[in-house]
This record gives sequence, C-alpha cells and structure tokens, in this order.
Amino acid sequence: MGDPLLLRVADTIEPQEFGSAALLALIQDMQDTMVAMSGAGIAAPQIGVSKQLTIFGGFKSPRYPDAEAVPYTILCNPVLTPVGDDMVDDWEGCLSVPGMRGVVPRYSKLRYQGCDQHGEPIDRTVEGFHARVAQHECDHLFGILYPMRIKDLSRFGYTDVLFPNQLPPEE
Ligand code: NI
Repeated sequence: MGDPLLLRVADTIEPQEFGSAALLALIQDMQDTMVAMSGAGIAAPQIGVSKQLTIFGGFKSPRYPDAEAVPYTILCNPVLTPVGDDMVDDWEGCLSVPGMRGVVPRYSKLRYQGCDQHGEPIDRTVEGFHARVAQHECDHLFGILYPMRIKDLSRFGYTDVLFPNQLPPEE
C-alpha cells in the first residue's frame, strides 16, 4: 500500500497476449507468491505488473474453515455486475496491506465475466465468499484497496490483535 501502481486502472490484456509465454510466466509468478504468502487470491498489480489479471481460489486452508470452496480461477479483463442490492459485511485482509484486517461491505451476489489465460470466456454468477474474493481481487485491477471501502474504521486493525488465536488468509 502506498505504491501508485496499486491506485491506477491496470492495462487491459491484449488479444495477442493470451497464451503467450510471458503471460503464463506472470501467472506462475503470481501463483508462487500467493502460495508462499498463504493468500486466497492475488492480482498482477500486487507484484508490480499493471495488467488486468487476477488469480484466486483453489485453496484449502484451515484458516478459513467456513469458506465454501472457490474453484481455482485465472481471470483476465473482468467485468463485474452486481446481482441485486444486497450487501454483506465480513473481514478481509490483503497481501498489499500486510498484518491488518478490516470489515468490508461487498455485494452478496454478482456476475463476473472475462476470460482465462488462453482467451476462453468466463461467465459466472456467484455468491458468498466466492463473490467476496472476486470483488476484492478485481478491485485491485481498478486501483482500489480494501481499506478504501471500509465504512466503519473502528473495525480495522492489526490481525494479531483482532484475531489472537487465528489468522484468516490475505487476498
Ligand atoms: Ni488484496
């Protein structure tokens, strides 16, 4: 947090980039970083690359026993459309804001569209934790970090103070 790259709209991935060695290498770097840091997801700007690319899900973490399974997803050039107005509050963390957690309102249900690393279309309507992770990660591609969405700053603080006995994953 503080890097201007995280506050700008990332560059769209161009058609000729899909399936390229450079794009696949970038995804591998992101995957390695996400696993090393026990993240639930990661976006390219978080490792210094301004491209509309995020990966999330596919994890089984004892830190998140209540989270329903989120399929491993590689999502490029996403478009998010909320389904209904219902918002839900829950705790979030972020690899770019280490050691902290905050309560963030998110749409409880949304549709996301985009494509995978080969340019194959993705079109899903999801809810719950899956919807939350998708909103958090796609925010990274549009220059938004979760603290910017916190409504009640009294529910924002250091993870080890807020959760002395458990450490939910960062995104
Ligand atoms: Ni994040």
